[in-house]
Amino acid sequence: MQFLENFQPELTITSPGRINFIGEHTDYNMGYVLPTAIGNKITFKFSRNDSYNECNVFSVGYQGFSFDLKEIAVSDVQWENYILGVISEISKLTDKVRGFDCTIESNLPLGSGLSSSAAMECGLAYGLNELFDLGLSKLAMVELSQRAEHTYVGTQCGIMDQFASVMSKEGHVILLDCRSLEYQYIPIHIAPYKLIMLNTKVSHNLASSEYNTRKMECEQGVAILQKSNPEVMSLREVTRAMLEKGKSEMPSKVYDRCSFIIDENDRVIAMTEALKKNDLKTVGSILYTAHEGISNLYEVSCPESDFLVDFTKDNDAVLGARQTGGGFGGCTLNIIHENAVDAFIKEASEAYKNKFNIELEAFEVQPSGGTQVI
Ligand code: GLA
Repeated sequence: MQFLENFQPELTITSPGRINFIGEHTDYNMGYVLPTAIGNKITFKFSRNDSYNECNVFSVGYQGFSFDLKEIAVSDVQWENYILGVISEISKLTDKVRGFDCTIESNLPLGSGLSSSAAMECGLAYGLNELFDLGLSKLAMVELSQRAEHTYVGTQCGIMDQFASVMSKEGHVILLDCRSLEYQYIPIHIAPYKLIMLNTKVSHNLASSEYNTRKMECEQGVAILQKSNPEVMSLREVTRAMLEKGKSEMPSKVYDRCSFIIDENDRVIAMTEALKKNDLKTVGSILYTAHEGISNLYEVSCPESDFLVDFTKDNDAVLGARQTGGGFGGCTLNIIHENAVDAFIKEASEAYKNKFNIELEAFEVQPSGGTQVI
């Protein structure tokens, strides 16, 4: 692209991916989540270009595209929609954005359940807020980025990924109540254990449509339970007793989905307590129980993730493991003793290659800070 020849960025922003300790699919059910940003991130470089409307965006590895601020519409190229969606949502709040040039570079594996999409949306929103002095709060940027995903990308996601990308704090996880948006930072000390991600390298294309289906199934459960419990607004307010009472009125799949969400919310609270007490054995066992639910009740796992989680079970150096993120592939999160990490990765990679003929990717992550100006 032509602007690259003389590009002199005036602003650099980094926007991280995230992991979620526990609390999967609870965000759009108004429950709790426990995510944190990680060191893998997207770097944006920005410059105003003195035009009124013309914008140029170049993504290393993807090529670039140009657009006119006055003619924003959904693109056939999916990654462009992360950009266009954010611009469209910002334009509903302010008319201060002008022409700009931007380069994007990422060391965040895409489509791996580490929320590269939220990192993209939030990094752009944060950058434009700085560049044009838009005066948006962090929460406003989180919320507009989430809306961009709904309107331009088509996934009816909750708020966890955008919140984690912007609001995270180094060395902590965020206990976020997705109903009130109240949050607390919980310090995390897991030495001599490490957080190791195993990337299945599969991202089954069911993900977006099945995600929206899960959301609808949860809403169906709420609608059935509301008949006898009019105070219930979301699965957050549903107790185990209410669900068991309504079981006969709902399709078994809807019951399973609701059952998972109720347990998963409880697991977030139990995990928070275990982390506060440094009770790593409990932390690990909660991960395993959660994966059972992800696989059997919520049915958002896949053979590759199940294989990697099962593979850890005979290894005493692994405290726990589960698939993290929206599902159908991506990464598993593993808590492994530091002395055993190298041998574990070697064995898991061989076993995975034998079974699926895919080269496993393994890397350590650390709870890191959120989106920032460099
Ligand atoms: C995706 C969504 C989040 C959340 C997770 C599952 O990452 O973007 O809002 O629902 O899936 O926990």
